Amino acid sequence: MPSSPIRKLVPFAEEAKKKGRTVYHLNIGQPDINTPQVVLNRIKNLKRSVIEYSHSAGFDSYRKGLAEYYSGFEINIEHNNIIVTTGGSEALIFGLQTCFNPGDEVIIPEPFYANYNGFATTSGVKVVPVTAKIEDGFALPPISDFKNLITERTKGIIICNPGNPTGYLYSKEELETLRDIVKEHDLFLFSDEVYREFCYDGAVPHSVLQLKGVEENVIVIDSVSKRYSMCGARVGALVTKNQDVLDMALKFGQARLSPPTFGQIAGEAALDTPQSYFDDVIEEYVERRNIMIDGLNKIPGVICPKPSGAFYAIAKLPIDNSDKFCQWLLEEFEYENQTVMLAPATGFYATKGNGKQEVRIAYVLNKESLVNAVACLEQALEIYPGKIELAPNEAISEG
Ligand SMILES: Cc1ncc(COP(=O)(O)O)c(C=O)c1O
Repeated sequence: MPSSPIRKLVPFAEEAKKKGRTVYHLNIGQPDINTPQVVLNRIKNLKRSVIEYSHSAGFDSYRKGLAEYYSGFEINIEHNNIIVTTGGSEALIFGLQTCFNPGDEVIIPEPFYANYNGFATTSGVKVVPVTAKIEDGFALPPISDFKNLITERTKGIIICNPGNPTGYLYSKEELETLRDIVKEHDLFLFSDEVYREFCYDGAVPHSVLQLKGVEENVIVIDSVSKRYSMCGARVGALVTKNQDVLDMALKFGQARLSPPTFGQIAGEAALDTPQSYFDDVIEEYVERRNIMIDGLNKIPGVICPKPSGAFYAIAKLPIDNSDKFCQWLLEEFEYENQTVMLAPATGFYATKGNGKQEVRIAYVLNKESLVNAVACLEQALEIYPGKIELAPNEAISEG
C-alpha cells in the first residue's frame, strides 16, 4: 500500500507541537466549519433502544431523500440507483472492485486525490496517469492524451469534479469530450463529486449523471463528509443507472453488512439543511480562498492558479523538492513560534518526478490563521536552504 502523502508527515508535526509551536494544518481537508444544527439536534434527540444494522444498500427513507436531493441539481435518479456506503471511500472501493478485474487499467488525470492509489492497489487495478498542467490551471488534458493511453486493459476513467487537489471545475464541454471517448471505447466513467456544493464565483457544477447516451457507463461517488462538514459520520454513496453494477456492488455491500446506522440518521437529517447554511459556508470559503491564493501569488516565484471549486489548491514554489521542504517546515523552521504543515504534491501524481516543486494547500482554517500561514510561508521561502533562485525575467513573468 502506498502511504498517504497527506498523513505521512504527522510525526514531524507532533514533534513541532511538543516544542510549543503552533502548526497551521493546511495539509488535510478537515474543515473547521460547524455541522448543520439540524444534524446535531437529530443526533442529540435520538431515541433508540437498539442500534440495528440497516439494509446493505442503506435505509430506504435515506435513499429516497437522496434521490430528491439530486433532483435539486437536475439529476434524475431513482432511490434504487443509490447504494449508501461507508464514506465516499467505500463507494470508490466498491466501484473499482465491481467494474475492474485485477490487472485492468484506469486512466486518471493527475494530480489526483492520493487515496485513489490506495483504492486501486486494494482492487489490483493499475493507475495510468494523464498529466494536467499547472500552466493550464489543471484543465482537462487534451483528449488525444487520453486516447494515447488506452489499451485493451483500459476499463475506465476517474475524474474528480470539482477537483481535489486542484480545485478545478470541469465545464460541460469538458465532460462532453469525456463522454465521447467513454462511449467510443465503452469505458466506465467514475466521477467523484463529493465537493459538488463548493463552486465559486457563480460557477455551476455539472454531473456526469446528466450526460446523455452514457447512462450505463457513468458512476458517481458521493459523500456527506465535506458537504455538511461531517467527515466522521462516514456516509457516502455510489450512484449509477447501470443495474449490473448496482447488483454487483450490493454483493460487496452485503459482505460488509451495512453502512453506519448513526451516520445515515445524520445524513438523512442533513437533507433538511437550509440553503442559508451553504450560502454562509461558500461565502466563507471564497474569502479564505482569496486570502490564500492572492497571498501566495504575491510571494516571489510562487504560482497558484485560482480554483473555482472545492477547498484545495496546488501551488508551485521556488524549491528543489517539496517532500524535503514540507518536512523542513515542521522540523527546522519557525516564524514567531509558528509553522505550516503542507502536503507535498508528489503523492498526488503517479508519474515519478512530477509535483516535485508543488504542494497541495487546503484552505480549511479560519481567515486569521490563513493570514498567519501565508506570512510563515513567505518567511520560509526566503530562508529555505533548497530555494531555487529565479532568473529575473522568470520572476517578472510569474509575478
Ligand atoms: C476527492 C475525494 N473523494 C473522496 C473522499 C473520501 O471521503 P469520505 O470517505 O470521507 O467520504 C475525499 C476525502 O477527502 C476526497 O477528497
